[in-house]
Amino acid sequence: MAIQKFGTVAFGTVAIVLHWAIAALIVIAVASGLITAGAKEIDLSRATLVVHQSFGLIIFTLAVVRITWRLTHPAPPLPPTTTLQQRWAATVTHGSLYLLTFFMPLAGYTGLAARGRVISLFGVFELPQGEFRDFDLARTAQEVHVSLQYVLYALVAAHVIAALYHQFVIRDGLLWRMWFRNGPAQTSSQG
Ligand code: HEM
Ligand code: HEM
Repeated sequence: MAIQKFGTVAFGTVAIVLHWAIAALIVIAVASGLITAGAKEIDLSRATLVVHQSFGLIIFTLAVVRITWRLTHPAPPLPPTTTLQQRWAATVTHGSLYLLTFFMPLAGYTGLAARGRVISLFGVFELPQGEFRDFDLARTAQEVHVSLQYVLYALVAAHVIAALYHQFVIRDGLLWRMWFRNGPAQTSSQG
């Protein structure tokens, strides 16, 4: 159900929950990935990698759900004041963020799986492993995984700056489209 908030139409609850859940999990995945990569002690590195890959795999699962949901539930129309350039910038940034939440975990997984490493969810549940080994593929996938973090940082920074610019400079209430409670001057429900 689309809700009317602050003079604009908001995303539905499922889209909002998935947005903020994935955003929070990305913070955990990035922090645990950096700790894993920088750890001097092998035990620490192994422990944080289990945490890292587990949260990464949860992000992957939620990203599949989210992309499927988005393809079947169009975004609410942007405010009529949005320029063509802003629409394009939003489409490219959002599309790339969707793709990253899918391909980053996939590259991380391939980097480990093609090397024959056991991949578990929090050390409790092991993912099924095949006999397939390809060390070149593993190295390339790992390099892609590590490089994509910089694309992620740049896109998230641009995304957050754009959201804050809309909220506090243009003051068009864009943030309320992606929030649970109604904005200051909001009104009725729709749909
Ligand atoms: C959206 C999800 C993910 C994000 C944002 C993410 C992010 C990162 C980051 C920032 C690093 C540190 C890279 C560096 O500077 O060297 C890293 C390392 C790594 N990630 Fe991920 N990652 C994700 C998912 C996964 C998944 C699902 C796996 C495996 C199943 C994985 C496996 C690894 C491995 C093996 C490393 C290297 C650790 C090392 O250098 O020893 N990642 N990741
Ligand atoms: C503090 C951090 C964040 C803020 C303030 C924020 C804010 C927003 C807002 C206001 C929208 C709605 C834009 C619109 O009305 O069209 C949005 C959409 C979106 N956000 Fe974020 N966001 C944050 C973090 C993230 C992160 C970390 C990701 C990474 C996946 C992300 C991915 C997306 C995507 C893909 C959309 C597009 C939704 C769609 O049109 O289907 N956001 N965000």
